Amino acid sequence: MSCADRMLCACLGLRESEVRAAVRAQSLFELADLVAKTEAGAGCTCCHPDLKALLQDERERAGYLSEPICSAR
Ligand code: FES
Repeated sequence: MSCADRMLCACLGLRESEVRAAVRAQSLFELADLVAKTEAGAGCTCCHPDLKALLQDERERAGYLSEPICSAR
């Protein structure tokens, strides 16, 4: 564990590195999927803003686009 490996979900005792590893291994890009698959954020929900920020970071890292690209308007 490094100093940067902060506790992300205190209720479940999950550190940032553990959540990131699960997100990457299971291609989890939405909070509902993350909660369902890992239980991170399934307690008091205080960590949801941090989990959403992590998911946004991982989406950007993976080049994931939540909205389809469409040039026709
Ligand atoms: S801190 Fe994550 S659910 Fe409570």
